[in-house]
Amino acid sequence: MRSILFLLITLSLFHSANSKSMLLLKRGASISVEGNTFITSPDNSFTCGFYGLGSNAYWFAIWFTNSKERTVVWTANRDKPVNSQGSRVSIRRDGTMVLTDVDRSIVWQTNTRTTDVSAAELLNTGNLVLKNPRGDILWQSFDVPTDTLLPSQILTKDKRLIASFRKGSFESGYFNLYFGSNNVLSLITDSPQISSLYWPNPDYDVYTSGRTNYNGSRLAVLDDMGLLQSSDHFQANASDKGFGIKRRLTIDHDGNLRIYSLINSTGLWTITWQAISQPCQVHGACGSNGICVYAQKPKCICTPGYEVNDPSDWNAGCKPTFNQTLLNSKVKFLELSQTDYFGSDLYYKPNFTLKACQELCRRDSACKGFTYRTWGNGHCYVKNDLFNGFQSPDFPGSVYIKLPRSVKVSKPSIFNGSSTTCESREIEIPVGSPSMYAFARRTVRWVYLYSFCAALGALELIFILLGRWFLLRKHGVPTSVEAGYCMISSQFRRFNYAELKKITNNFREELGRGGSGTVYKGSLADDRLVAVKRLGDVFQAEDEFLAEIGTIGKINHMNLVRMWGFCSEGRHRLLVYEFVDNMSLDKHLFNSNFLGWKQRYAVALGTAKGLAHLHHECLEWVIHCDVKPENILLDNEFQPKIADFGLAKLSRRDGPGSEITRIRGTKGYRAPEWALNHPITAKVDIYGYGVVVLEMIKGVKFSYWVVDDADDQETPLKNLSWTVKEKAQCGNSSWVESIVDPRLKGKFSRKQAATLIQIGLSCVEEDRRKRPTMASVVQTLMECEDETEIKVLDKLELIY
Ligand SMILES: *[C@@H]1O[C@H](CO)[C@@H](O)[C@H](O)[C@H]1NC(C)=O
Ligand SMILES: *[C@@H]1O[C@H](CO)[C@@H](O)[C@H](O)[C@H]1NC(C)=O
Ligand SMILES: *[C@@H]1O[C@H](CO)[C@@H](O)[C@H](O)[C@H]1NC(C)=O
Ligand SMILES: *[C@@H]1O[C@H](CO)[C@@H](O)[C@H](O)[C@H]1NC(C)=O
Ligand SMILES: *[C@@H]1O[C@H](CO)[C@@H](O)[C@H](O)[C@H]1NC(C)=O
Ligand SMILES: *[C@@H]1O[C@H](CO)[C@@H](O)[C@H](O)[C@H]1NC(C)=O
Repeated sequence: MRSILFLLITLSLFHSANSKSMLLLKRGASISVEGNTFITSPDNSFTCGFYGLGSNAYWFAIWFTNSKERTVVWTANRDKPVNSQGSRVSIRRDGTMVLTDVDRSIVWQTNTRTTDVSAAELLNTGNLVLKNPRGDILWQSFDVPTDTLLPSQILTKDKRLIASFRKGSFESGYFNLYFGSNNVLSLITDSPQISSLYWPNPDYDVYTSGRTNYNGSRLAVLDDMGLLQSSDHFQANASDKGFGIKRRLTIDHDGNLRIYSLINSTGLWTITWQAISQPCQVHGACGSNGICVYAQKPKCICTPGYEVNDPSDWNAGCKPTFNQTLLNSKVKFLELSQTDYFGSDLYYKPNFTLKACQELCRRDSACKGFTYRTWGNGHCYVKNDLFNGFQSPDFPGSVYIKLPRSVKVSKPSIFNGSSTTCESREIEIPVGSPSMYAFARRTVRWVYLYSFCAALGALELIFILLGRWFLLRKHGVPTSVEAGYCMISSQFRRFNYAELKKITNNFREELGRGGSGTVYKGSLADDRLVAVKRLGDVFQAEDEFLAEIGTIGKINHMNLVRMWGFCSEGRHRLLVYEFVDNMSLDKHLFNSNFLGWKQRYAVALGTAKGLAHLHHECLEWVIHCDVKPENILLDNEFQPKIADFGLAKLSRRDGPGSEITRIRGTKGYRAPEWALNHPITAKVDIYGYGVVVLEMIKGVKFSYWVVDDADDQETPLKNLSWTVKEKAQCGNSSWVESIVDPRLKGKFSRKQAATLIQIGLSCVEEDRRKRPTMASVVQTLMECEDETEIKVLDKLELIY
């Protein structure tokens, strides 16, 4: 968002006049994104209307008007965002309030059909109500909470607060606040694999936790003073107890329940109470076979002997690296101290020796490990599943993991020391990025951020919506700080323009020219070669430019072109990159200088690794938006390096006066959702990657076939997909041969080719949900990397 802040401020001067806020939405009336209308509470502390993320995902929502990041407290359609154009909320003649998408399908509606609802209004409490002419409330948003409870909003029987799945999104996740059947206000993990209560502390009975279970009224409420209390005698005070402060009670995506207070002067939130002080006490934080550990910050790791299923989603947990049947023969036990898995006890034996406990586990084929608590005479817990793993300095005992004797595992250093593999340091995050308080167990997952390429594309719509808000936050933009993520400190630096002129010999040798600018070759004083990119129409204030550059400059991966520095002087905006020797992939595929099989496979794998790093491991989820052979450079060992990532944030091809085109990327590599007006996610890169992979296999550029008509775009891909399906189904083993580049003259690995073709085709699925993640592509390709068949071909690597 930050990169377009300047734009927004500038342009909102023209548009803020069009934004209409009103106190009542009358029966028969409606609001839409385009209409730029909002309902505000009489004291203006809450606003209700369409809230957008990315280019094209909108929610009918209520948010705090004066919080810097427009904190959303309620959404009507949290799991089903609607389109920016053509979606509307209206109060129909029959009295129902209805949210419809562009195709007029009903996404959400109230249960007020055939009532005399006359208008919707937003109360000062943040409650959206439907009233009849006499002023009776017929429906209220307070009755259907999402993840937040506002002061005076009552959590009752059968209602739940459900945390969002990840930070920055609204979709429902697995952590719930609700009243259990024992009348106790509880936090529970409720995922497909596991349901496990973690607050109040399940190690004690409810009375020890200061609760009772005999009051069946099941009510909880946060009052205006900041006192949270419930019918089971639970009480907590916000640390800033008193009137006049805006607060909210939210169950966060990390499973913790917190009271936040709004600081008037900055519009930021501070935590004034939280239910869980040790983040690893949240159950299910790391999925099955995962363990939540403290390494400067809480994070997830896999149980030794297990490996992660999906690095971007720890809910998916870890899977064994060994064949489970081996647990029936010779086994060994690996001790992890001060660690336990909560629940899943096959047996519990008090007064048991460690040896006897181990024997019990060894003999039971269902046993995956056991916990041994050392207090008293020793307690033995035999586990049939390794769920809810956590490390806790106060845990009096160890867990012993059962592993086949043949499996070699080493204990992660985290279990006896505080060393970590990641260098951790404080970094500055641009405004508009994750907020100050947010952190927790999903350090690996980081932040879900829709790409800026999308944000830029939809600029017009977003800024109309955000115009007012940005005006509010224009003054004093404080930066928030979030500690600890993997980065290697660099020699990243600022150049001045004269210096770059000298380096590039007055921009003499042009290396290439693209949508975002022209690239020149240069040579630094220490003889390092560089590629200097002069950005085209940059319509951006310097501080936003610097913030973006700071982010890109920190991204470091062997398969991504490294940025060494930048220049921002007057209207000049230049980027200085490492020089990559061997030109781009297209130069090595579509002409006589083509790559051999082993190198093509290495390029496919390296590119996947680079994209996976952008998508999953970077601080911000960066979407490239323009994956194509021209943007994949090859170094002198023909290892791929992806160029031009993060640039969608920086350059703008269309001037402010021209018509704004939403669509980014290059024809032929562009996912169908661009044309379909669907939300843009990392899956657009997966699509582009799929096309690149298929082109590498065939050695033919598909995009040559692409004519202006969008429908024709997929034809060569569709044909290929049909061919493969047909031939594979008929058991025709020669199908691989018929697809792979004939210029290779059969010199390739059949298994690798089959795998790559399948990956390529799944990546170009029209339904983006069917496309794999980049992390899973990397995994599949790595499994197939050491193909013996290919060894024979080593000498024939480059066929020139
Ligand atoms: C049960 O809880 C409600 C709400 O907190 C309270 O008003 C009521 O007095 C309680 N009943 C008993 C028997 O404690
Ligand atoms: C919260 O504050 C109220 C009012 O000052 C006090 O009566 C109550 O004991 C406090 N509760 C807790 C749990 O601190
Ligand atoms: C914050 O602002 C509100 C409304 O402007 C005001 O009523 C309240 O007193 C302020 N609170 C503080 C702590 O300044
Ligand atoms: C595991 O090992 C058993 C026995 O050796 C074998 O039958 C089975 O197919 C193996 N399973 C997998 C998934 O490799
Ligand atoms: C534990 O074992 C000791 C010694 O064997 C015995 O005296 C004690 O009664 C046992 N306690 C329980 C709870 O079984
Ligand atoms: C970790 O523990 C192992 C064995 O218990 C020991 O050899 C090693 O030195 C320890 N490492 C650290 C960093 O303490």
